[in-house]
Amino acid sequence: MMAARGYADVVLIDIVEGLPQGKGLDIAESAPWTGFSTTVTGTNDWVDTAGSDVVVITSGVARRPGMTREDLLGTNAGIVRAVVGNAAKHSPNAVLIIFANPMDAMCHVALAASGFPKERVIGQGGMLDSARYRAFISMETGASVKDVCAWVLGGHTEATMVPIVSNATVGGVPLTQLLNTRKVDALVARTKRGGAEIVDLLKTGSAFIAPAAATIEMVDAILLDERRILPCATLLNGPWGVRNGYVGAPVLLGEGGIQKVYTPPLSDDEVAGIKEAGKAVRELVAATPKG
Ligand code: 2OP
Repeated sequence: MMAARGYADVVLIDIVEGLPQGKGLDIAESAPWTGFSTTVTGTNDWVDTAGSDVVVITSGVARRPGMTREDLLGTNAGIVRAVVGNAAKHSPNAVLIIFANPMDAMCHVALAASGFPKERVIGQGGMLDSARYRAFISMETGASVKDVCAWVLGGHTEATMVPIVSNATVGGVPLTQLLNTRKVDALVARTKRGGAEIVDLLKTGSAFIAPAAATIEMVDAILLDERRILPCATLLNGPWGVRNGYVGAPVLLGEGGIQKVYTPPLSDDEVAGIKEAGKAVRELVAATPKG
């Protein structure tokens, strides 16, 4: 998907020999029909990634049916720490987009391992969850997804996700005017379980396509300095009662990463949910194996 954008060279890196090279070659061979002139290469050597402007970290294991994202904490923390250390060493000016799970806790690991300022360590979660929320609203209302403006803030776990109802609109019409409370509640519940719904269907791993689309929207905003306001995980300290925790909030994304963070008015329940998300991520940080 990133290659098909056609404005950035892409390097895939993995520890499995041959895998990124094979994937990279396959994608590069699609160029004549997809129509991009940029390069796609695969490697097992971080040297080949040197000087990257954006590094997307998806490393780590995915969950299987019956697992929560939090169950991945111990395994993925070590992987993310090592990967981010290498990424930061070879691309010291990069913006890091973190999407290993549990995502919000992995942002804390990445912030520490990179030594980067928080503006350059951004979590992807709200983008994906908002895409699911918007898709479900479109399916339920029958209105084009293009006109659905609805966001998920808070954390990227079932327990901490906060699909925002108070300011959700479709073409400027409040969601609560289009659907009754029972239907809105069902959409919120389905959004929170959105990742698990895919895992239950695939059985061997988690979602690919929507996460990729959501991530690339962030890459576009940064590399093209689009100054989008998008729901991403960022380190908050104070707003919404969050104390030094990564949670999803509307951020202005452009050159250099996060340029501004907004904390718009929400309902009391929504603010309480985001505050809880902040507490939950601090608990995961405390439980993260060190070193
Ligand atoms: C998801 O929600 C992988 O956490 C990711 O699908």
